Order: sequence, then structure tokens, then C-alpha cells
Amino acid sequence: MIKKCLFPAAGYGTRFLPATKATPKEMLPVLTKPLIQYGVEEALDAGMDTMAIVTGRGKRAIEDHFDISYELEHQIKGTSKEHYLTEIRDVITKCTFSYTRQIEMKGLGHAILSGQTLIGNEPFAVVLADDLCHAPKGVLSQMLDLYEKYQCSIVAIEEVPKEETNKYGVIAGKEIEKDIFMISDMVEKPDPKDAPSNLAIIGRYILTPDIFDIIKTTKPGKGGEIQITDALLTQAKKGMVLAYKFDGERFDCGSIDGFVKATNYFYELEKEKN
Ligand code: UTP
Repeated sequence: MIKKCLFPAAGYGTRFLPATKATPKEMLPVLTKPLIQYGVEEALDAGMDTMAIVTGRGKRAIEDHFDISYELEHQIKGTSKEHYLTEIRDVITKCTFSYTRQIEMKGLGHAILSGQTLIGNEPFAVVLADDLCHAPKGVLSQMLDLYEKYQCSIVAIEEVPKEETNKYGVIAGKEIEKDIFMISDMVEKPDPKDAPSNLAIIGRYILTPDIFDIIKTTKPGKGGEIQITDALLTQAKKGMVLAYKFDGERFDCGSIDGFVKATNYFYELEKEKN
């Protein structure tokens, strides 16, 4: 039903400098796979086949990754190393990729608006590839089940320690079903003392297309950026936006601490497989 997934990937990734000087943050690998490939695989698992990527200057490696490298294919064909390419070949065969550039980094809301040209007038998913998720049933698949029932925008949330609310968008709302909240308030990166709860938004969204017009009229908020949190609050006040406490693990791979945790976690998973 929802076929398109948007990946805002234009940010500078300053917390990973100098690694991100010439390499997109989304291409940093956890074990052998770049972060963005994990995100694309999660979307594919949820039945989406159209990947729309918002890039910026210095991000061409993303386009090359989701393309055939004839030279490499030629070198590796028929050798014992061919299996290393199995997963990426599978992704390339099953999805289409389209790209647009966010010309100025004016925030996540602005990056999502830049993707309108690729999405059009239909509901879509958003994945922030630096939030790496692992769950028996993918987080996007869980959210799509919910979308089928409620047909409104949905954000994934997680409980965080109260002292960390200033890193996230934080919601307030009424729990209408187990783990499902109807949002009444949302604040971007609140000080712990002002946070309406400890329920933090993570990088998975299902958005209805009216969000684009709302973003267009959303004024710059925290940090002078156009915040998706502010646009979603407007949408929640006009109608309904849900927050879903997903089942699974999430690693903030935009931070060094989260990246190291993810690497160790996926390494242990791999060891168990072998
Ligand atoms: P972050 O703030 O985590 O990413 O944005 P960043 O700015 O690249 O990282 P640091 O803080 O400098 O280390 C969350 C997501 O939103 C995208 C980023 O690429 C990332 O996936 N984003 C953010 C954009 O695409 N455009 C923007 O203007 C801002």
C-alpha cells in the first residue's frame, strides 16, 4: 500500500569528522554494510520498492552504492568472493532509486520537503539511516500495520533517560492502545526540566502527503532549522498523529557511542549465525 520510502541524507555528519569529510555519514559501515543499506533493506522488507533519497554535496557514493559496478562484477564473477555481493545485488534488483538534492541544510523538515518532488501526493515512509533498528519484525513493517488501521501520520518512539530528552523530539499524548499514543504535544530537543515526557521520536515515520503543505508554512524552530516535529504538531492539532512504541532495538549511529554499540551488537549476531 505504501510503496515509497524517503531517506533524508543531506546532513553534514559533523560528529563523525574527519571520517565524514569526503564520505557520507550514511555510508559508514556497521560490519560490512553501510548504514543506508540497512535502512533500504528494512523498507524493502515492509513491501516498499521505491527509494527516494535526499542527498547533498559530497554524497555521490550513495548513488554509486545502489548501482552496478561492472568492473567489480567482472572481477568477482565465478570466484569464491562472489557471495559478498549477494545482498546488495538483491536490493538493486528489487528497488528503484531516485535522488534529489537539498541545496541548503535547513533542517529535517526542509529535507523532507525537498523530497516532495520524488514522493508526489501519496503517503510515504521516512527512514533516518543513522538510526539503525533491529527487530524480529522490522520497525517499518510494524508501523505499516498500524497505518492500515488508522490511516494517519505515525512516528516511532522510544523511552529514553530523562536527562537525554534534549537530543530528541519528545511527545506527550494519551495511550489509546498498548504502545500507541495519540499525540497532544511535541517539543524539539527540550531541556529535561521542560520535557513533556521521556518518549522520544526516533528516525522512522509514516507521513501523509498533507505534511508537505504544512512544512511550507512551518517557521524555523529550534536551532533556526525547519523542524519536522513542529510540522507534525500542526498536523496533530488539525487531525491526528500517532506515536508508536516499537518492538525492537535502536542504535543512534549518528553518535560514536551508538555506532560502537551497534557494531558490537551486529557482530554478536553474526557470530551466532556462524
Ligand atoms: P542529524 O542532525 O542527526 O544529522 O540529522 P547531521 O546533521 O548529519 O549530523 P551531525 O549532528 O552534524 O553529526 C538527522 C538526519 O536528517 C538528515 C541527516 O542527513 C540525518 O540523516 N538531515 C538533517 C538532512 O537531510 N538535512 C538537514 O538539513 C538536516
